[in-house]
Amino acid sequence: MNIKSFIVNYLRKNRILAVRFSNFLNSISLYFQVWSRRIIKTINHETSDHASEWFILNKPDLLKKINKIRTRQKKEYPHYSYFYNYPYQAFSTLSIFGERSTEERFTMYKLGEYINKTHKILDLGCNCGFMGIYTSYRIGCQVDGIDINPHAIEIGQLCSSYLNVDDKVHLKACRVQDFKKNQKYNGIFSFATHWTDDNNYRVQLKDHFALLWDLLENDGILFFESHCTDVGDKNFYSSIAKITTKFQTLYRTDTDAGSRHYYILRKIS
Ligand SMILES: C[S@@+](CC[C@H](N)C(=O)[O-])C[C@H]1O[C@@H](n2cnc3c(N)ncnc32)[C@H](O)[C@@H]1O
Repeated sequence: MNIKSFIVNYLRKNRILAVRFSNFLNSISLYFQVWSRRIIKTINHETSDHASEWFILNKPDLLKKINKIRTRQKKEYPHYSYFYNYPYQAFSTLSIFGERSTEERFTMYKLGEYINKTHKILDLGCNCGFMGIYTSYRIGCQVDGIDINPHAIEIGQLCSSYLNVDDKVHLKACRVQDFKKNQKYNGIFSFATHWTDDNNYRVQLKDHFALLWDLLENDGILFFESHCTDVGDKNFYSSIAKITTKFQTLYRTDTDAGSRHYYILRKIS
């Protein structure tokens, strides 16, 4: 066995250790970024505009606040930890460590091609809401995001205000089952959330799609990502085949090295 495969095997067998070590690397990389900006300010005799430096210099403070919320989450939210109590969603723009890259998903899911700034988007089971926050940050659209986990929502609210999109992005701790259907959306994100590992949302796929259909404007667009366990599951494909009579498929691909399916569907009015 060569050194590379030894390290790969070791990391895969010691997942928690690998995750903690990656988080540590992410944290120190932020401190290097901050010091690199400080050095530039110093050699410029502090002549650089102070206000222009806030984006990087305030990040350690943001991460401290997020870590405090994570500590509270560990004590107060025993339901389920998606990624060892680290955010499920990573957010490089703000140097936030997590499992799944928001920026990569934004590109892979073609959100920039199908959403424009006049759109109002709903992100169901949004976790920290980073997908909606980043979409609004890039495109300027309005986003409502809901998640059952109030700690994830609190983290998202800090981040949307850091990026100055809190006038457009509204995140709320709420169960999908309790969400009031008093408005319709131009687009809905249903990413890995048509049933949940924590068992807090378990419905038939057809009922989940019926809810989404109700919440979409005519011609509204559904951005749907499967779970890994859906891949190869006959019941999943037969439900999808029935559903697509009510939606037009605009795009379909496999993501995460083929371990998930992704669909962009337009509601047929
Ligand atoms: C696998 S994560 C997916 C998160 C996000 N959609 C994404 O893909 O990045 C599932 C999320 O659903 C949330 N959740 C579970 N049950 C829920 C419910 N009944 N109502 C709202 N959110 C729920 C969890 O807290 C978790 O954040």
